[in-house]
Amino acid sequence: MLAKLNDEQERFLAALQGVADEETLYQLQVQYVGKKGSITGLSKKLGKLTVDERKAFGAELNRVKKAVQAALEARKQELQEAARLRDLARVEDLTMPAKRSPQGSLHPIRIATRALVDTFRRMGFDLAEGPHVEHVNFNFDALNFQPDHPARDMQDTFVIDDRRGSDDLVLRTHTSPVQIRTMARLRRLGQRPPVRIIAPGTVFRCDDDATHSPMFHQIEGLFVDRGVTMADLKATMIQFTAAFFGRSLGIRLRPSYFPFVEPGAELDMQCPFCERARGTTCSVCKGTAWIELGGSGMVHPAVLEAVGIDPEEYSGWAFGFGIDRMAMLMYQIPDLRQMFDGDVRFLRGFSS
Ligand code: PHE
Repeated sequence: MLAKLNDEQERFLAALQGVADEETLYQLQVQYVGKKGSITGLSKKLGKLTVDERKAFGAELNRVKKAVQAALEARKQELQEAARLRDLARVEDLTMPAKRSPQGSLHPIRIATRALVDTFRRMGFDLAEGPHVEHVNFNFDALNFQPDHPARDMQDTFVIDDRRGSDDLVLRTHTSPVQIRTMARLRRLGQRPPVRIIAPGTVFRCDDDATHSPMFHQIEGLFVDRGVTMADLKATMIQFTAAFFGRSLGIRLRPSYFPFVEPGAELDMQCPFCERARGTTCSVCKGTAWIELGGSGMVHPAVLEAVGIDPEEYSGWAFGFGIDRMAMLMYQIPDLRQMFDGDVRFLRGFSS
């Protein structure tokens, strides 16, 4: 028995020499002094010994167990210390440049839209939005388009095929339906004018050439209150140019026709770029000194009636102009199509 005990101890010590990690050390502990360990196993034989033998062997057994535990503990400390030193000796290059993940940037149209909206918001307009897929009623009928108006033609308007054979959903052809949505909501909420909104967004028409994209962007303005006149429209637009371009520019209204305004006018702005091209013909306005922004006019009484606003009591103006051309002017982008190609080499060039 005693010889066996010493044997186990020798074997344990020899094995301990080869242990290089804590995992192996733990296995060794289990193997010798664990519940089913070989040294633990010897203590179970104590019962078979005489009293004297038991005393002597028991004492020896305890001594060996203690020695084994102490050796295990010492080795564990050594391994931990070695690991700590290895960790400290590890060299990290703290000067290595970090990997940069690619960052997106805002599209020039988005930048222009935000700038326009910010300017109008500072002038007291609220932001309003509407859906791209619009009901014909909002896109045309409530805006006083007659049933045979050419703009309704399938050649100008993308009609949504809803598989029921009905053609009452279209891709909105302008942002003007947001006028209707805004005023209709006012009525639902039981509120009355004033209404003062700015509504930017994507619009769609079956057009595709060098200067027309089937998808483009507009910004709509609407102001309805008691006693609103066309003079307010002109003054607001002059104020806008001052806030947007840093100096007030002339605004010109040329008679025109849109079913939802009366009177209606084309809205022109004095060219803000002419001074840059002093002495030469300005390439932006082609020497005309004016830039066409879009349509405008006094909200037609039939439109106010359609949304339950009494045209005898209230009046208002509206305008709608293209954002894409504004972005092209701001960034001197020569070709409209460059903005919709999705070429990141082009898009990366803009900062917000
Ligand atoms: N919605 C018109 C268009 O797209 C522009 C417009 C807006 C005209 C508001 C008058 C008033 O052509």
